[in-house]
Amino acid sequence: MSAIEKTTNPENDCNCDPYLLSLVQPSTQNDKNNKQQGKSTGLFLASITGGLALSLTAICYPFVAPALRRVVLPFVPASTNQVENVLKALSSVKTGGRLIDLGSGDGRIVLAAAQKGYQSHGVELNSVLVGYSKYSAWRNKLKNATFSRTDLFKVNYSKYETVVIFGVDEMMPELEDLFKSQLIPSSHVIACRFPLPNWKPIKILGEGIDTVWLYEVK
Ligand SMILES: C[S@@+](CC[C@H](N)C(=O)[O-])C[C@H]1O[C@@H](n2cnc3c(N)ncnc32)[C@H](O)[C@@H]1O
Repeated sequence: MSAIEKTTNPENDCNCDPYLLSLVQPSTQNDKNNKQQGKSTGLFLASITGGLALSLTAICYPFVAPALRRVVLPFVPASTNQVENVLKALSSVKTGGRLIDLGSGDGRIVLAAAQKGYQSHGVELNSVLVGYSKYSAWRNKLKNATFSRTDLFKVNYSKYETVVIFGVDEMMPELEDLFKSQLIPSSHVIACRFPLPNWKPIKILGEGIDTVWLYEVK
């Protein structure tokens, strides 16, 4: 390399030998590469963190969403005793036909009823729970257990002979009115933990938080 070339190099204003200079000073290209690599790593970490945050939000949202609705009905699975009381109520009236569980959660009541031979359907707002319930029905080879992502206040109840509801106290008066206007005579309602406010049950099974009230539509 000539002396002129040495002086025109902006990195070499001391006119030193370029080889010796490269031993003590990292090249501009290396600097650029390092900076570029740093930027790519930062972008990679940012997209991983962002992706994780988005996935977490997507999983948690269906569980939080019911709390934002007019009537707050969280996911609280029925206890084993409660499910047994529902099955006892069903066998005590021997209703056939179609059964619907309003707010079916992880599908345990629908699956238990389907195992007893009922054509059972669960409506549930939480899409994760609907997916899980469908998977459980498939795994247990229960073709008579079906599920859909549906608002329980928008169901056509007249299609069902048995309605199961594990709700909350404040929704029972509204449901009672819906049942009264839509359910066909001699169909049955099974209310878990919270009774219908004005109807007279034909049977009460269990006690405490596992209590189940059985009603017949007049
Ligand atoms: C108390 S849990 C009962 C779960 C299930 N039936 C059981 O006994 O294990 C109530 C369920 O209703 C669902 N839910 C809340 N509001 C709803 C609505 N408007 N329509 C349908 N499902 C609803 C919740 O996501 C929750 O899974």
